[in-house]
Amino acid sequence: MPREIITIQAGQCGNAIGSKFWQQLCIEHGISADGNLEDFATEGGDRKDVFFYQSDDTRYIPRAILVDLEPRVIHGIQTSPYKNIYNPENFFVGENGMGAGNNWAAGYAAGERVQEEIFDMIDREADGSDSLEGFMLLHSIAGGTGSGLGSYLLERANDRFPKKIIQTYSVFPDTAIGDVVVNPYNSLLTMRRLTQNADSVVVLDNGALSRIASERLHVQEPSFQQTNQLVSTVMSASTTTLRYPGYMHNDLVGIIASLIPTPRCHFLMTAYTPFTGDNVEAAKTVRKTTVLDVMRRLLQPKNRMVSITPSKSSCYISILNIIQGEDVSPTDVHKSLLRIRERRMATFIPWGPASIQVALTKKSPYLQNTNRVSGLMLANHTSVSTLFRRIVVQYEKMRKRNAYLEQYKKEAPFAEGLGEFDEAKEVVMGMISEYEAAEKDDYLDPDAGEKKPDGT
Ligand code: GTP
Repeated sequence: MPREIITIQAGQCGNAIGSKFWQQLCIEHGISADGNLEDFATEGGDRKDVFFYQSDDTRYIPRAILVDLEPRVIHGIQTSPYKNIYNPENFFVGENGMGAGNNWAAGYAAGERVQEEIFDMIDREADGSDSLEGFMLLHSIAGGTGSGLGSYLLERANDRFPKKIIQTYSVFPDTAIGDVVVNPYNSLLTMRRLTQNADSVVVLDNGALSRIASERLHVQEPSFQQTNQLVSTVMSASTTTLRYPGYMHNDLVGIIASLIPTPRCHFLMTAYTPFTGDNVEAAKTVRKTTVLDVMRRLLQPKNRMVSITPSKSSCYISILNIIQGEDVSPTDVHKSLLRIRERRMATFIPWGPASIQVALTKKSPYLQNTNRVSGLMLANHTSVSTLFRRIVVQYEKMRKRNAYLEQYKKEAPFAEGLGEFDEAKEVVMGMISEYEAAEKDDYLDPDAGEKKPDGT
């Protein structure tokens, strides 16, 4: 029985990465730009129905809902070579076409107004599934639509489908360039919803994505087009075990259960290697791709797609390596894991099993020029909290000066005052403290963190 997943892509960034993701899935499953199965794609063994359904004329249609408050990016998708693949009833563009002006509150307020129309689409897709597993939200947390409207949809989806899993692919802003001045406000408000209303968040950070793309491409400033290729590679690799199922990790709940031992610490970082010409045009090829090599590279900080500053005490809560390759044997994997342990290449939490989990999966037979072995690491690491703390610090600086608050006060969520900001900060700080507590060996002790009568 398929465990279907409905994808909701919101805002400019969400739709841009979403359209790349669908192109990648089509290539991997041998589906043409019109949704027809290619003549060569008869090998089978894949599970297309997690992300696609078949229309009456047997074309494959993504279970995708495309939402934006301004028409530009969606219009681009509707005129692209892949325009016919989507269900035309699943596009939602805001009526006045104005966007949310990089204002979370405007996006959230719009969500309240347009939710009925969007949930009609979501309900229709949910009713069309046999055994819906959950939702994936693709968005940026820094602008107005993906962050604000995305936050609204997360809350409502949580109320409406309490038993379904919600996973997000959330693009964090490059804190060094600040292309959206108010990104700390928007990010903080969205992070509250990601903490409270998502089961798992794959954190993609534009700073790290640009660094990786520029190192591979040797260009100063990579375009979104180029960084989005990295994102779609990560998205497709992180869903391979769902699409080419093996014994384990073949549904979202299996992946989440193995990576997220305590529900609040559910922010995952990723690393991928090797990026080749398929993923990033003109990328340098890597000479050797053995399993050990791939696993070792996945642990190297330069391959992480999140900019974090690990401290002495930071550690992995869990790691799942998804290794793709044709003739990778479990013995290779076992030997590589032993070597990594001997060399102490990864430090784990003191209160849980110190192990790297590995899922071996098939590679799509329809991809050209791929490396013998490639790998994606999905990791729950306590230092992800340093990224969140940086955003809180930036938020506090702006808030202290009352900078740019007027535009927020005009919108419904702030009609009663600025309490929304204070609540969001409290939730996010709580989540940061949880990550810090997880570094200590008494984390599971119910009295941990409480002071004894003698003050120790
Ligand atoms: P409004 O424009 O306010 O309606 O909201 P929006 O959600 O459409 O905004 P957008 O998605 O543009 O969010 C802004 C943030 O997303 C900035 O930090 C951008 O750097 C980032 N961003 C925008 N487009 C892309 C993209 O295609 N790829 C990546 N990686 N980041 C993007």
